[in-house]
Amino acid sequence: MSTVKEKLMGHVSDNVTAPIGKITVVGAGQVGMACAFSIFIQGLASELALVDMLEDKLKGEQMDLQHGLAFVRNVKVNSSKDYSITANSKICIVTAGARQNEGESRLSLVDRNINIFQSIIPQLVKYSPNAILLIVSNPVDILTWVAWKLSGLPSHRVIGSGTNLDSSRLRFLIGERLGIAPSSCHGWIIGEHGDSSVAVWSGVNIAGVNLSEVDPNIGTGNDKENWESIHKEVVDRVTTA
Ligand SMILES: NC(=O)c1ccc[n+]([C@@H]2O[C@H](COP(=O)([O-])OP(=O)(O)OC[C@H]3O[C@@H](n4cnc5c(N)ncnc54)[C@H](O)[C@@H]3O)[C@@H](O)[C@H]2O)c1
Repeated sequence: MSTVKEKLMGHVSDNVTAPIGKITVVGAGQVGMACAFSIFIQGLASELALVDMLEDKLKGEQMDLQHGLAFVRNVKVNSSKDYSITANSKICIVTAGARQNEGESRLSLVDRNINIFQSIIPQLVKYSPNAILLIVSNPVDILTWVAWKLSGLPSHRVIGSGTNLDSSRLRFLIGERLGIAPSSCHGWIIGEHGDSSVAVWSGVNIAGVNLSEVDPNIGTGNDKENWESIHKEVVDRVTTA
């Protein structure tokens, strides 16, 4: 007797099994799941693979995403601590990492995260040799270099999130001070994601109007309105993310 599925659909061809637009997220913590949710609501992937070492957490996060599928473009979601589920990804986003313990130096965090990366990066490259690696784990600039070395991939395929978060925080804080939407406030923080970053005040513009033309002292020591304090606020927040 035919099943409901067989009655609904005649067989035309075998199912397509190779993923078309697959994205892997390693690390199902706060940042990893924010990435996954963002990929979901923007319809960026046809398939999403989540990897973490906590299997219960993975299961819960996978179900939460799947149960929201009625409201977004269809995405096949898989999760496991086994990297074989990541095979043929176009992009692998790495957000896994240890957090800084109280009193722990940044350097020892680097050591711990390098160890973690040694177990992650070769696996990703093994299953998705053509993927682009996008590194988010901190300290992001160092770990991006480590990922590049461990992967053996060309440098243009190993990208760190760099100062994107710093820049978007800057744009939000400028918008807040001016009462203007952050999407109309343009500017970049460059350099390291962290203490030594540089806010490029000469390039900050509001809907095309350059702030340094409005006030040539903007962001300098002679700036009476102390706009550089906004950059300092960004740096302070970066030390916790
Ligand atoms: N680059 C940026 O702009 C930026 C911004 C925010 C956070 N971060 C960094 O992103 C990372 C993640 O932050 P979070 O808040 O999501 O942390 P989190 O603790 O919530 O999540 C980290 C996840 O990594 C997993 N993990 C640890 N070791 C693993 C391994 N060997 N294999 C697989 N999974 C492993 C943990 O189980 C956990 O689920 C941190 O390093 C954080 O500093 C970077």
